[in-house]
Amino acid sequence: MAAMITDGTAGPFRVGVIGCGYWGPNHVRVFEELLGPGTVVACEPDAVQRDRFARRFPYVPVFASPAEVLARSDVRAVVVATPASTHYALVSLALEAGKHVLCEKPFTTNVSDAEALESRAAETGLVLMVGHVFLFNAALQYVRRVCHDGTLGTLRYAIATRTNLGPVRTDVDVAADLASHDIAVLNWIVGSPPMTVSAVGASYVVKGHADAAFVTLGYDGGFTASVHASWLHPEKVRRLTIVGSERMLSWDDLDLESPVTIYDKHVEAHPHAASYGEFLRVSTHTGEVRHPFVPSREPLKVQAQAFLDAIRDGGPVTSGADVGVGVMRVLAATSQSFAGYGLPIRIASASE
Ligand SMILES: NC(=O)c1ccc[n+]([C@@H]2O[C@H](COP(=O)([O-])OP(=O)(O)OC[C@H]3O[C@@H](n4cnc5c(N)ncnc54)[C@H](O)[C@@H]3O)[C@@H](O)[C@H]2O)c1
Repeated sequence: MAAMITDGTAGPFRVGVIGCGYWGPNHVRVFEELLGPGTVVACEPDAVQRDRFARRFPYVPVFASPAEVLARSDVRAVVVATPASTHYALVSLALEAGKHVLCEKPFTTNVSDAEALESRAAETGLVLMVGHVFLFNAALQYVRRVCHDGTLGTLRYAIATRTNLGPVRTDVDVAADLASHDIAVLNWIVGSPPMTVSAVGASYVVKGHADAAFVTLGYDGGFTASVHASWLHPEKVRRLTIVGSERMLSWDDLDLESPVTIYDKHVEAHPHAASYGEFLRVSTHTGEVRHPFVPSREPLKVQAQAFLDAIRDGGPVTSGADVGVGVMRVLAATSQSFAGYGLPIRIASASE
């Protein structure tokens, strides 16, 4: 059964998921849940992966080549869930074939490819979204709200940590693979890209590709963020701490019960204290610690719904090609800074 959601043209509406290795099947599942059975087709060129996929989703047609999916008139939208190095070619082909596209992160492997895809989508009027899925995470949406409504006061700095043992990628470094999530989140919370990047990357496993990255982002107004990303680490950590002038918060993606903690803590400058003891007593404030209740929904499914809504309604997209391009600019500066062992790099804005 093909879904009857429409992008203004007649006929059935199916979604094609290109690339069904580790992550693609999750897209297949969420689109089927949203649109109903028989609404998704898949593509996986690797025979072993294709068999594995066919055993898990016996009712989903799976093709060996992207061309077979793109040639179908009932496939009106595609998800590109292949390695980053193939994104540019596949997204180009999909736009050429008149399909709306949700492309997994990182958008591309360089800024000029990302910009070219953004322009191409704008020319065609097709929706092009980049899978920065944490922008659809309810707890992080809550975090963004409290950063904007004054709860934290003026934002001072943030630390993001995203580590695990693997999966190690061979076509991009760990900054593109993992730090890209945090860069997207930080840009979205701040509302603008950073002005400077200083980054150190260490390469141990894949020659020439950083396996551990330490990235410092300097935003307008003095807000500084530090991102540590590694796929060579004993623990899986997905955390963000934001320190404001009035309060502080932490987000822990692995804490399913209460991912957000807000600390009523701050420091008041007291330059005329008579002694160090008096300085400590009067200058730090510690109040209550809150765990606000945030109803959760699967972010990948919320992202899929946003993609379908954008196709149906038009209008701005939360994680559009512009967001992907913004992240790519930061990643390009990160690579440049790696080469200079932390050399600060100024990020060129879109207008420069
Ligand atoms: N948003 C997230 O949280 C998240 C999580 C995991 C992966 N990802 C992203 O998803 C993408 C895929 O990651 P993965 O872990 O599934 O990788 P993977 O290597 O497990 O799977 C990719 C699949 O794409 C297939 N493929 C390769 N080239 C192709 C081509 N030209 N046409 C069609 N299929 C092709 C491969 O055979 C493979 O099965 C990456 O961009 C990755 O960064 C995102």
